[in-house]
Amino acid sequence: MSMQSTPNPNLLSSLPEALTKLAYQGFQQSKSVFSLAHKTISDRLTDTIVPSRQNITTSLSPELLLELQKRRNELCEIDWQDAQKGVYPVDILFDSLLPDFLRYYPEVWLDLPKIWARLQQKEYQTFAKDIEKEGYPRYYLQNFHYQTDGYLSDSSAHLYDLQVDILFNGVADSMRRRILAPLKEGLKTFSSVQPYHIKVLDVACGTGRTLKNIRATLPKASLFGVDLSPAYLRKANQLLSENPKELPQLTHANAEDLPHPDNFFHGLSCVFLFHELPGFARQEVINQCFRVTKPGGTFIICDSMQLSDSPEFEVMMNNFSAMFHEPYYQDYIRDNLGERLEKAGFELIETQLHFVSKYWIARKH
Ligand SMILES: C[S@@+](CC[C@H](N)C(=O)[O-])C[C@H]1O[C@@H](n2cnc3c(N)ncnc32)[C@H](O)[C@@H]1O
Repeated sequence: MSMQSTPNPNLLSSLPEALTKLAYQGFQQSKSVFSLAHKTISDRLTDTIVPSRQNITTSLSPELLLELQKRRNELCEIDWQDAQKGVYPVDILFDSLLPDFLRYYPEVWLDLPKIWARLQQKEYQTFAKDIEKEGYPRYYLQNFHYQTDGYLSDSSAHLYDLQVDILFNGVADSMRRRILAPLKEGLKTFSSVQPYHIKVLDVACGTGRTLKNIRATLPKASLFGVDLSPAYLRKANQLLSENPKELPQLTHANAEDLPHPDNFFHGLSCVFLFHELPGFARQEVINQCFRVTKPGGTFIICDSMQLSDSPEFEVMMNNFSAMFHEPYYQDYIRDNLGERLEKAGFELIETQLHFVSKYWIARKH
């Protein structure tokens, strides 16, 4: 029997709206408190074992912490409002990582000594001996976030969602969900197309959390995902098979060379990929996304905020690339993705900022 990670929708619809909102706020608050406690303990331990790490980061000012808290609250409010407007069902707001948490949270701690060893030895490209490394681009063979085996083991795939949600103080999915309103809006161009003929691709789908949210929003559409990690695709397959609706088609592929025909998708999304690519690969991926988008289709990118839109957060962005192994991040935060999208042929409709993420909404004419 699989453990439910989302509450019963009938139960939620029988509660008065104010009560559901309180429950949502409480749910988010508890994740925030937990994430902060986890990070405080883990940072203190790491600073004790690897004291040199303290010299490479700067403390955040109280004003910046307040601004961060304000942005987080705004993100949760928009998430709630979008569910109220019917962009997606309210029960997806309560989707939790509980099954993973119960099974894999101890491993997050057990992995720490390996991370300390890599930090001390400055080793950022180490993989277990049995991991196949042939055929991957060189930029990909990294222990991103000092993660054991990078993206190339099942164990890494099991820990990834927990680690990302802790990093983002419990709102990783709320950040992913910000692609859904513009995606749904963009698909209105194809209102004469039967819903089940609408095709949507999530590029670098990882463990499938964005696809899970897209499925909740577009229950009838044909969904597709590509990723370079077989292990993350296995994890995505597990998560997405819990939903009795049609399973998204998951393909092991490099986003620089998508295996789909030209003009195929009505909508595309790409979440948290671009900061992990060198500049040339960012352009290649955008070019490929343009090629496979149908005229009239929408492409939405979600990734980290950048220096141009959030200069006040420069300290935090520098801490991020210093504390986690993110070799392309400093270049990414200075990159102009709008220009890259236009170079590929897209029209940039708008950019948005939510919490610590930025969104590019683009259309192919
Ligand atoms: C930070 S994770 C983001 C995963 C997911 N989109 C999410 O929201 O959590 C980056 C993902 O990009 C994938 N990736 C990196 N380079 C890629 C490439 N060139 N082609 C396809 N996937 C790639 C990784 O395997 C990993 O799953």
